[in-house]
Amino acid sequence: MTSKFVDVWYGDILLAKEDEPYSDKYYWSALNTQEREKAETFTRQLLQKKFIKTRAKLKRILAVYLQTDPQTLVLEYTEYGKPYIKQDCDIYFNLSHKKNKFVIAVSNIDELGIDIELCKDRKNMSGMVKKCFSEIESHFWSSLAVEQQTYMFYRFWVRKEAFVKAVGRGIALGLNQCVVDSNKQSGFISIPFAYGQPEDWSIIDVKLDDEDICAVVLKTTDKFEFKLMRSQHNA
Ligand SMILES: CC(C)(COP(=O)(O)OP(=O)(O)OC[C@H]1O[C@@H](n2cnc3c(N)ncnc32)[C@H](O)[C@@H]1OP(=O)(O)O)[C@@H](O)C(=O)NCCC(=O)NCCS
Repeated sequence: MTSKFVDVWYGDILLAKEDEPYSDKYYWSALNTQEREKAETFTRQLLQKKFIKTRAKLKRILAVYLQTDPQTLVLEYTEYGKPYIKQDCDIYFNLSHKKNKFVIAVSNIDELGIDIELCKDRKNMSGMVKKCFSEIESHFWSSLAVEQQTYMFYRFWVRKEAFVKAVGRGIALGLNQCVVDSNKQSGFISIPFAYGQPEDWSIIDVKLDDEDICAVVLKTTDKFEFKLMRSQHNA
């Protein structure tokens, strides 16, 4: 049996020219015609830059696993917007970005999702908890000391968002549909029936820098090797 792995790539999307060790050509050359055409449609330069760099980084990382030229790699989307590699292969991925940070999870386990959030206070946190957390999660969160609430809000949030991305439905599924086990927090106590049993799923709490909170969710009960890779602008 092939051994299972999950690699998480974590890095910055450098948007300032002076910080940039690579030329625009380096990024542009990873894109295919369709992606270049999409890049041309952005009217705001910053968003265009972000698209080009994120896509190029993603393709350069995936190309290493597939031992191929990034330009020839074709990404398609499911009807709900989940990207996947069009070529027949056993490599799967998901990505998330917040501000200038990105995370990319790459694995040979096919159902996976990842989310990164910036751990910062937000005005309507208890309103968001009411709306997006299940009753049991809400109860657990409300019982925490105030100084723990912001961190734990995001810890729960990223696990839930990684789940809805793993199943490919996105936020439309409803974040309150999957319930994180407040006791051990490394699994779910309930998920929608269509996606199997809660114990079929694993959660990885990924430790990044202090302000970045991240989780990966995967449908597997097999053992897997997990690695965190820092992307030093070399992908
Ligand atoms: C997926 C989703 C939860 C991401 O939320 P977010 O916190 O704003 O963004 P993140 O940075 O964490 O993730 C964005 C990435 O998720 C991926 N993604 C988008 N839709 C996805 C889905 N349904 N499942 C898994 N991953 C998805 C994309 O790669 C996207 O990055 P890209 O736009 O650079 O390619 C949210 O955008 C969503 O629910 N989208 C689905 C919308 C939908 O139902 N569309 C149907 C018509 S296309």
